[in-house]
Amino acid sequence: MRVLVTGGAGYIGSHAVRELLRADHDVTVLDNLSKGHRESVDMRANFIRGDMSDSVLVRRVLRDNRIEAVLHFAAFIEVGESVSDPFKYYRNNFASTLSLLESMRAEGVNKFVFSSTAAVYGNPKGVPIHETDPREPINPYGRSKMMTEMALEDASRAYGLGYAILRYFNVAGASPDGTIGEAHEPESHLIPRVLAAANEGRAIGIYGTDYNTPDGTCIRDYIHVVDLVNAHILALEKIKLGEGRVYNLGSESGFSVREVIEACRKATGKSFPVEEHERRPGDPDSLVASSSRIRELGWTREYPDLETMILHAWKWHTTHPHGYRRLHAPAPEALQAHEGEKSSRAPS
Ligand SMILES: NC(=O)c1ccc[n+]([C@@H]2O[C@H](COP(=O)([O-])OP(=O)(O)OC[C@H]3O[C@@H](n4cnc5c(N)ncnc54)[C@H](O)[C@@H]3O)[C@@H](O)[C@H]2O)c1
Repeated sequence: MRVLVTGGAGYIGSHAVRELLRADHDVTVLDNLSKGHRESVDMRANFIRGDMSDSVLVRRVLRDNRIEAVLHFAAFIEVGESVSDPFKYYRNNFASTLSLLESMRAEGVNKFVFSSTAAVYGNPKGVPIHETDPREPINPYGRSKMMTEMALEDASRAYGLGYAILRYFNVAGASPDGTIGEAHEPESHLIPRVLAAANEGRAIGIYGTDYNTPDGTCIRDYIHVVDLVNAHILALEKIKLGEGRVYNLGSESGFSVREVIEACRKATGKSFPVEEHERRPGDPDSLVASSSRIRELGWTREYPDLETMILHAWKWHTTHPHGYRRLHAPAPEALQAHEGEKSSRAPS
């Protein structure tokens, strides 16, 4: 299929580009590089720097490349920033997506895979979370995604759009060869923060040790980025025009903050101090999604265990300690930590 990947220079999008190419799809990337990295985009993909709200450009890209489907990753992703600057999130995540959908409609492109979030559920009533649970987002980021979901439902009824919505919490890991990985700025995700602390011998904080979980720390869902993007490709291939499907991508059981920190210690072979703090407001005990619906499509996870996710992330981190900004040779101890795995330092 001829596919447009918006946000294809970002963390998840760049992995999606690779897996789409591996599955023999023809890939065009649209990214304004507000957060993404040109170096992360596979050289075999057609790269266009531009904004999804630029309808003249987007329509031309859709037409010139005879695009049949759009995988939509472009968005802003910082929950805290969405609270302090909500219009930024409604503008980019909702209004610009609406513009993209209008451009698609004008050019007769009617298959859409949407990178949503489990944040649309807000504080869940129970775990695991099911796709049929109510959407009650508690921040503008989650609301901007819910609004897009609603627009897709209406567009499907009115214009015959076929869509798949994928909802997930924490994406982790990197390409197994360590050449592309997570390079957010600022980085708010737990695993890359712990790995950076491990690398620099800094302390890492745990916020709350008295939650109603076996070890007292919060439990969260983690999915390997390669498994995640393969679910998007599977969902894309099953889209029917005029119909929409919603899929959670979850790990079913999740991992606690302490488990993540211990797995990071083991994978890196580094010791680093842990500081215990009071709970932060608004953190539920456990956020874990059910994935039974996507598994019915035949989705299986190649990298379900936490240690592999962390090993791949560590390989990326040690070969790219400054992300894509400066490429460094791997430190000797990093190579030892991954004995037996092929090491590569340059992104393709
Ligand atoms: N990372 C996670 O753990 C996670 C969890 C749940 C959902 N998601 C969703 O997955 C998607 C990708 O997340 P990510 O972690 O790869 O984020 P990212 O910031 O690494 O990638 C987003 C990309 O979109 C681009 N972009 C943003 N606005 C754009 C615009 N208007 N026009 C063109 N390009 C634009 C950025 O430059 C960047 O390359 C997002 O939609 C996010 O909401 C991510």
